[in-house]
Amino acid sequence: MSNPSHPPAVGVLDQGPELIFPPGFLWGAATAAYQIEGAATEGGRTPSIWDTFSHTEGRVVNGHTGDVACDHYHRMPDDVRLMADLGLKSYRFSVAWPRVQPGGSGPANAEGLDFYRRLVDELLTHGIEPWLTLYHWDLPQQLEDAGGWPARDTASRFADYAQLVADALGDRVTYWTTLNEPWCSAFLGYGSGAHAPGRSDGADAVRAGHHLMLGHGLAVQALRASRPRAQLGVTVNLYPVTPASDDPADADAARRIDGLANRFFLDPLLRGSYPADLVADLTEVTDFGHVRDGDLATIATPLDLVGVNYYSRHVVAAPAEGVEREPYWRAPSCWPGSEDVRFVTRGVPVTDMDWEIDAPGLVETLRRVHEEYTNLPLYVTENGSAFVDEVVDGKVDDIDRLAYFDAHLRAAHEAIAAGVPLHGYFAWSLMDNFEWAWGYTKRFGMVWIDYDTQLRIPKSSARWYAEVIRRNGLAGQ
Ligand code: FCB
Repeated sequence: MSNPSHPPAVGVLDQGPELIFPPGFLWGAATAAYQIEGAATEGGRTPSIWDTFSHTEGRVVNGHTGDVACDHYHRMPDDVRLMADLGLKSYRFSVAWPRVQPGGSGPANAEGLDFYRRLVDELLTHGIEPWLTLYHWDLPQQLEDAGGWPARDTASRFADYAQLVADALGDRVTYWTTLNEPWCSAFLGYGSGAHAPGRSDGADAVRAGHHLMLGHGLAVQALRASRPRAQLGVTVNLYPVTPASDDPADADAARRIDGLANRFFLDPLLRGSYPADLVADLTEVTDFGHVRDGDLATIATPLDLVGVNYYSRHVVAAPAEGVEREPYWRAPSCWPGSEDVRFVTRGVPVTDMDWEIDAPGLVETLRRVHEEYTNLPLYVTENGSAFVDEVVDGKVDDIDRLAYFDAHLRAAHEAIAAGVPLHGYFAWSLMDNFEWAWGYTKRFGMVWIDYDTQLRIPKSSARWYAEVIRRNGLAGQ
């Protein structure tokens, strides 16, 4: 049955030298509330875990915070005009929970909701499809104080919040994703502590991961009931995990990391179960006693689409001989139970994040989700790169970033040709922004931000992307 919200992706590719994408392919760019909005204390907004974290000494490079960020809260109409100039078909943004429901429970804050109503109206006026993410990491601090994601109640609070946003914006937003990258929220937030709230306990990280997914399932049920025509999904960050050699011990290390990074989320969300080998790997960390009857069915509530964020690949090796594994409670790690696996670099070109550039990994990732997990429409909800940029004569010629996008869009096209129902692509990011624990030191934007003056300068990659959108594809090589 054809679904008008998802244009056909397969079998309609141009066979000529250019790489033309399927008609209606959704070309977009993405941002997240805390990374761009600023106005941290305005309009009734209360602190999120990222406000607390960034204001804690030593947590974020240079003590940077999202207090002002790109000042998007005040410059939103100009920013939407910029998106329209680039010809974006869609804009993926997130709603700040503490802006629309201060404290994380109770009634809506009308002033906060108004900001997103105006944003959505502005987008629609310019013919840009709003793509709304409910949770891009800014948990209200009050909910963290009550236990955060390791506490089961947070899942119910999330569903209530989802309902409140649906009541306000459901009449004009078609595309909804619940969580952005639950792996980061759980394992960086509660495992390694590199992200807010900065806690380090493997069992808490696993519990957080479960409750994030439970909150997702409950939210999908609430949204489905009140907005039957909405297109609902979730965004996961996935990595191909490759063993460093053909030694079986390296293969086992890859299996373990793949379990924690990818299958921990894909299996419950799309199959309704945790992988048995992952549960076994985590024996020392948790007995999964936090999982209650019915949870997995809730988590696997049917979706309309899956969002994939792709940046790089993990290449891993077995623990070095003779090195005793640190028990998880002594070793803050985002890989509980597998802290001793070694992450290997291959000497291939890297971005300013030191992430290896690996476009074929995007093909592998998309094919895997489609071939092993689901026939649902897929969207790349984030893909992009940080590089050191320079303004010369008022211009930013970010040739490395442009090449990264080009290579990954060719990979996306290859995945479509291989039968993956890929319906859209969102560049990360529309503009330079607060890159979490790296503050403003890493630039991912297609638009340069001068943080002193808030001047915006579209970089070469933005101009190039506008041309890709205009021709619905890439020029031949
Ligand atoms: C992803 C996040 C996004 C941004 C990029 C670089 O993990 O979803 O907010 O930080 O990485």
